[in-house]
Amino acid sequence: MPSHPDGIRAPQIAADQMPSHVAVIMDGNGRWAEQRGLPRHEGHRAGIAAVYEMVYGALEIGLRHLTVYMFSTENWKRGTEEITTILGATQRELDEGPLRDMNVRQRWSGRPDKLPEDLVHSLRREEHRTRTRTGLTLTTCINYGGRDEITRTAAALAQAAREGEVDPHLLGEDDFARHLPHPDMPDVDLLWRTGNEQRTSNFLPWHAAYAELYFTPGYWPDNDRSDLWQAITEYSRRQRRHGAVPTPLTSPEN
Ligand code: IPE
Ligand code: IPE
Ligand code: MG
Repeated sequence: MPSHPDGIRAPQIAADQMPSHVAVIMDGNGRWAEQRGLPRHEGHRAGIAAVYEMVYGALEIGLRHLTVYMFSTENWKRGTEEITTILGATQRELDEGPLRDMNVRQRWSGRPDKLPEDLVHSLRREEHRTRTRTGLTLTTCINYGGRDEITRTAAALAQAAREGEVDPHLLGEDDFARHLPHPDMPDVDLLWRTGNEQRTSNFLPWHAAYAELYFTPGYWPDNDRSDLWQAITEYSRRQRRHGAVPTPLTSPEN
């Protein structure tokens, strides 16, 4: 794995302050290109290099799960050339990119319909080929929509109810989670969006319900692994309460 070009090393984060799952909305590729007088698709090409950087950074700092938003169910509204570049760059990465031989379990979240058959084939092939790897689980969201994921889960539950496997009156959150397309995906601890927008754009509404949110102004291709480490350092300073009262350092009863 190439080290950071300036020799910057991953910070030491205490195990109990470390997020398990970081999800990234990689935004700003188009504006990065426009700023340089380049066509938008050049921004997507540059964005792939930043994805590699994040994976190297995740492996170096010992992150377990990294999920990246590559193409949303809403991104079909864009021009054909731009869509073809995003999907083509993803396919090239899967077929010949540097992550192939790293200790990375590659997974895909999203719907197959409308995607090129070759891409769906490569996504499934890599999922299968890397399924026993242990270093990092990298989930790429392509043709992913949060509401779509919830709708498909509701359909799966309705089917299970019709078949008598679940009782609708007794359904709990755990039953819902078990019917998600990827039931083993953990909750998102940190949701990071680049590109100076403060919205979540239909990304992981179920998993990120209690995520810490982190927004940065820079365009995606200008980020490298040190920005991921910065995001994780910021997370490590947050106090998560999940609705409870903060625990005092020493309680008078003890
Ligand atoms: C994010 O960059 C990548 C995708 C949505 C595929 P954008 O292409 O949205 O970049 P901006 O927001 O137009 O700058
Ligand atoms: C979200 O970015 C989708 C991805 C990063 C793949 P968009 O640029 O498409 O989102 P909006 O249009 O700002 O909501
Ligand atoms: Mg955008």
